Amino acid sequence: MRLYRAKNYEDMSIKAASILAAQIVTDPNSVLGLATGSTPELMYRNLVEWYKKGYLDFSGVSTYNLDEYRGISGTNEQSYYAYMMKNLFSKVNIKEENTHIPDGFQEDTRKVCKEYEDAICQAGGIELQILGIGNNGHIGFNEPSDSFLEDCHCVNLAESTIQANKRFFEKEEDVPKQAYTMGVGTIMRAKKILLLASGKAKADAVEKLLNGPVTPQIPASILRLHPDVTIIADEEALVNVEEMKI
Ligand code: F6R
Repeated sequence: MRLYRAKNYEDMSIKAASILAAQIVTDPNSVLGLATGSTPELMYRNLVEWYKKGYLDFSGVSTYNLDEYRGISGTNEQSYYAYMMKNLFSKVNIKEENTHIPDGFQEDTRKVCKEYEDAICQAGGIELQILGIGNNGHIGFNEPSDSFLEDCHCVNLAESTIQANKRFFEKEEDVPKQAYTMGVGTIMRAKKILLLASGKAKADAVEKLLNGPVTPQIPASILRLHPDVTIIADEEALVNVEEMKI
């Protein structure tokens, strides 16, 4: 596991975009796993800027998003589909048919999850998976629990996640209570993983990810068992972590 200390959110975002850009340049047909949320927003803006300058070509790239709220359609502006369109897909030359997000409006959980897992497998697996981290240590929407769930599944969102995500919605009641998410196994099968963390709210989770036991109570802690994980965290997210050699 490699840990890079970033000075702040901007520095973290440039470093993260550089790693993603290098992946696309070295393998123009890359299969990427993508995250939503506040953390990667500026990383996506950097990638869009570099695309506009002609440095990047997304025409061969395929993407699989980590998760989607259950019960909202892609036309809902809080859906992760809408987030991805707004922040990346509509601004670069990625082919629509190469972008994949679990269908939040489909009620048949088993069908959605099996098809999503199969599609990732048929694409040859994810080469580089981008992750954020929840305040409670979740990755994707794998919430703290008694066991690690392997494959794509439907999850009841933890109260702390609903509280953390209500800032994106008009009213707390509007926050969906369920989501489809890649499982911990889906994430761990990615060849390379890049986890980003910014801000004080993530400090506890990041410290436990780095120093605590590997436990499904802190789902991100399983990343310590993956052979190729890079973490880029800013100073605020690392306040509880002593200076480490990188
Ligand atoms: C988003 C996702 C979540 C977020 C996490 C952090 O697709 O899977 O795990 O990465 O909740 O969210 P932010 O970045 O909004 O703090």
